[in-house]
Amino acid sequence: MAIGIDKLDFYIPNFYVSMDDLAKAREVDPNKFKIGIGQTKMAVNPVSQDIISMGINAAQDILSEQDKKDINMVIVATESGIDHSKAASVEIHNQLNIQPFARCIEMKEACYSATAAIQLAKDFLSNNPGKKVLVIASDIARYGLNSGGEPTQGAGAVALLLSHNPRILELNDDSVAYTNNVYDFWRPTSEKYPVVDGALSKDAYIESFNTVWNEYSKRTGYTVNDFESFCFHVPFTKMGEKAFKTILNENVEDSIKNRLMDAYQESVLWNRDVGNIYTGSLYLSLISLLQNHTFQPEEKVCLFSYGSGAVGEIFSGSIVKGYDKALDKEKHLNMLESREQLSVEEYETFFNRFDNQEFDFERELTQDPYSKVYLYSIEDHIRT
Ligand code: HMG
Repeated sequence: MAIGIDKLDFYIPNFYVSMDDLAKAREVDPNKFKIGIGQTKMAVNPVSQDIISMGINAAQDILSEQDKKDINMVIVATESGIDHSKAASVEIHNQLNIQPFARCIEMKEACYSATAAIQLAKDFLSNNPGKKVLVIASDIARYGLNSGGEPTQGAGAVALLLSHNPRILELNDDSVAYTNNVYDFWRPTSEKYPVVDGALSKDAYIESFNTVWNEYSKRTGYTVNDFESFCFHVPFTKMGEKAFKTILNENVEDSIKNRLMDAYQESVLWNRDVGNIYTGSLYLSLISLLQNHTFQPEEKVCLFSYGSGAVGEIFSGSIVKGYDKALDKEKHLNMLESREQLSVEEYETFFNRFDNQEFDFERELTQDPYSKVYLYSIEDHIRT
């Protein structure tokens, strides 16, 4: 029974700051950000876009009335939760008018949890023919002004509709997950910003990838050449590239290395211009790949999901014939290209207003045709 991604979409806030400008303001060589880290632009979210509104904005255009009747579960994957109790998916379910007899939950394990949500959805669907599951990955990555992690911030949401007979990517039964307790990056509930050991986090990412890839290739018998391309969790584009190169070693022919590295660059084109969106990063990369690479039906994509703390997972999907017709290519390109550039001073103002939850609708609600929903107020802890 084929189960997988039937529809997908994303939402990125309407504002960004360029890495050239940020590097200049922080008195850093711009090549450190552009080449060393591999980022060009960084999405900046206004106070009026929280994980709920971004999640709704990501999902609203892909759901038909029939989908809303068929969806039996809505899972929000996030590490930017806004409530210890109420799941963000409850509000999203309501705003999207999904039929009431559905389960709504929120899942957490750093950037990894959207993958857990997808695997849960796959298991659920294998016992529930005809049903659908909506998975939304929505996050805001903030490390603080002038912090080491500042150039790796970002914000955005990805929506994935999982079903039987999917139109885009069929999920194969080959996933291998790996858990390793490490304090590389975490977000204590008492703290405004993450606690991060940058160097350890890079090592932990690579260690996780190598360990899970070795186990995955042992169990499946696959080598890199069995895949048309790989997709990684992308905290910054250099990170996936560094990890990937560890397995594109001397045992792999140059022509295969070049083919896979070219496809990797296609997979991170949009992450380079958005930054880290945590739970959604791997799936934004998948959309970038699907849209910028030409696949033949049944070709396989290998996906590496990683969440600090740490959980890594590798699984694969097979391309479905006609997948490209299921992508709203023009919308995706326009959304990325029509964003408004902020100066570093404006970005800092946005950043500080976010910390203080001070709305400035006049400045924030510019022409953003992709945001039909935004956060209007928080009164008595109730979000409107
Ligand atoms: P840093 O100390 O500012 O930078 O931290 P660096 O000294 O590590 O330099 C970065 C790279 O730029 C280095 O390359 C330099 O050589 C190079 P590398 O040695 O790594 O190959 N460089 C230059 N290149 C060209 N021209 C120059 C130049 N100067 C230096 N002039 C760091 C960088 C990413 C650690 C920091 O931004 C950070 O802490 N970010 C947040 C943590 C993070 O993203 N970690 C990634 C792995 S963990 C993960 O993916 C999980 C995560 O998404 C969270 C979750 O799961 O929830 C973060």
